[in-house]
Amino acid sequence: MEIKTLISTKKLNSKIIELARQIQNDFKDEEILFLVILKGSVFFATDLAKNITSPIILDFMKVSSYSGTQSTGKIDVKLDITENITDKNVIVIEDIIDTGRTLRYLIDYLKAKNPKALKICTLLDKKDRREFEIEADYVGFDIPNKFVLGYGLDYDEKYRNLPYIGYIEQ
Ligand code: IMP
Ligand code: MG
Repeated sequence: MEIKTLISTKKLNSKIIELARQIQNDFKDEEILFLVILKGSVFFATDLAKNITSPIILDFMKVSSYSGTQSTGKIDVKLDITENITDKNVIVIEDIIDTGRTLRYLIDYLKAKNPKALKICTLLDKKDRREFEIEADYVGFDIPNKFVLGYGLDYDEKYRNLPYIGYIEQ
């Protein structure tokens, strides 16, 4: 399998510093809860968090789409949050927004818990693929409709450990 580079490690690093500055500027010294969506966002979330000086609480969720019920946009919560997010500044950390199904559902689910602020930060955004209306507050890179992998993103659970974002021709 030939993997081509879409976004180099160097470009990832400078974008992460830029995103961290934006978040820092918006929240100043306030506490932020990073809600990291497993597994793909782990690499991104930790690098981003290390560039922010505000106190960060980490929590995790694991979700998956139901294959049979695509039109409803319902997803399956495999691992739920453990922190109480009521009155907290929550930033959902995603690796990529594709159809928007995952986040559309998640945002409604989290809103019901009445956080003080609820923002979305995604490393990658495939806007052309959107089926569900959702927009991130912080976006690393808008990317074309290619299958990408690395830096947390998998191809059949593998290649998450690549230090750059690659793609494979389909
Ligand atoms: P959505 O619910 O359609 O927005 O899908 C989001 C999820 O699909 C992401 O969290 C990824 O796990 C997965 N995904 C979408 N596109 C890609 C890709 O190009 N490479 C790897 N995973 C992807
Ligand atoms: Mg995946």
